[in-house]
This record gives sequence, C-alpha cells and structure tokens, in this order.
Amino acid sequence: MARFITILSGKGGVGKTTSAINLGLALSKLGADVIVMDGNLSSPNLSINLGSTYFPTTIHDVMHKDEPIQNAVYNHQLGFKIIPADIAVDSMKMVNFDKLKKNMLDLHLVADYVIIDGSPGLGRETTQLMDMSDAILVITNPDKASIVDAKRLIEFAKRQNKPVVGLVVNKYRENNHSINSEQIEKYLEMPILSKIPHDERFEIAQYEKQPFIHLYPNRKASKEYFDLARRIIDATLIKRKML
Ligand SMILES: Nc1ncnc2c1ncn2[C@@H]1O[C@H](COP(=O)(O)OP(=O)(O)O)[C@@H](O)[C@H]1O
Ligand SMILES: [Mg+2]
Repeated sequence: MARFITILSGKGGVGKTTSAINLGLALSKLGADVIVMDGNLSSPNLSINLGSTYFPTTIHDVMHKDEPIQNAVYNHQLGFKIIPADIAVDSMKMVNFDKLKKNMLDLHLVADYVIIDGSPGLGRETTQLMDMSDAILVITNPDKASIVDAKRLIEFAKRQNKPVVGLVVNKYRENNHSINSEQIEKYLEMPILSKIPHDERFEIAQYEKQPFIHLYPNRKASKEYFDLARRIIDATLIKRKML
C-alpha cells in the first residue's frame, strides 16, 4: 500500500517543489520506494527543477489519452521515481481529476510513498489533490503572509476531513524580522514537525537541477529533510526496510 502525501501551501514560492524533491529523495535513501509526482498542474515545475522537461508520457496523457499511469513513471538517477506533468500551456485543457484518481490506485503496487508536489492556495486543484491524498504536509515560511495563508489552508483541510501529517517551516531564520517557532505554533495551533533553515545554496541546487540534499548532504537543511522523512515514516507507520 502506498501513502499519498500532498505538499501544499497557502502562499506560492514557499518551497513545495523543493520539499517534494528533497523529502522524496530522503525517504528513498531511508529505504522506501518513492514516487514524486507533479500535482501542480496549472504551473508544473517539478521536471524543470530536476533538469529534464521532455517526457513521452506525462500525467496529462494519463488524464487525456487513456495512457496507464505506469507509463508516466520515470526513474531518476538518484533512486526515486517521478511522474512529470506536461509543461505546455495547452495541457491545462487536459485535466481530469476523476480519471487521475482512478489511475493512481495502480501506484499502490509500485510505491511506498507518492509525494505530490501541490499547488498554492485553496482552488480547485488543491481541493482535488486533497481528495486523492491520505494526508497533506503543509509548508510555510516564517513571514506573516505565508503563515496567515497556512492558517486558511489548515482550516480548509479540517473541513475536508483531511489529516495534516505535519507542518514544515521552510526558509527558517532566527532574526528580528522573522516570526519565531513559538509564535507560529501558537497562531497555527499546531506543532511544527520540521524547521528547514534558509540556505542560499538552495539557489545553486536549483541552478544545478539537483536535489539540495544530494549536493550538500552535510548542511543543516539536509539533516532536517532526513529527520522530516523519519518522522513521516513514523507517523505513517510504514516500516523502514533498511534501518
Ligand atoms: N530553505 C530554503 N532556503 C533558501 N531558499 C529556498 C529554500 N527552500 C526553497 N528555496 C528557494 O525558494 C524558491 C521557491 O521554492 P519552490 O520550491 O519552487 O516553491 P514552491 O514550489 O512552493 O512555489 C526557489 O528558488 C528555491 O530554490
Ligand atoms: Mg512549485
């Protein structure tokens, strides 16, 4: 049985795609079979961040052309798998969530975790992605706008009866201009599962089209991604095969 975990945020640009890639790789390094799927169908950028934009079959073909979802699963050289989306503008016409949801059941056979890179906000995509996942992972930054938006997202998830597997504060900084963890937990009424520090090397990793934790395994942010992966394994009760 695969666990479907969608990474969501209220605000854009907080680190969903970055977290999908690095959490996916960390889970796979801990022994899980992982698929990272692009669920941000209106602005797909998972494949761009991983250095390759052409795939013969994408998630859009699964929704539009009756391609089995297994045909849209590709091996990444670092050991996890990805399901890319079509980055062409026209691909937006090809979204059919009902079909996708049915197809995704086939992923139970090939993965322990399907980590879905979600879209920001509370629109249709978010509702549909929530519907097809077991739990959501909420990402925020330590600034007022993203925290207020995270609050709305958490409320929304509650109303949809969708469990939040964790709250991640990304780009965390200890300074006078950032909101500290106690304030964030108090406002969001939820403990923080992981704090990923702000690190300028994320920009280099993005430029190199490589996961940060692969390029910089000794940075604090990499250790945090591994801790997050362990906590998610514990929270979702999938036994680690290698630890
Ligand atoms: N912990 C971090 N420290 C510094 N920059 C980061 C961090 N996490 C992500 N970024 C950068 O922030 C930008 C937005 O990240 P991205 O993952 O694309 O956000 P989203 O998918 O939520 O829109 C990217 O340029 C990325 O490299
Ligand atoms: Mg993104």
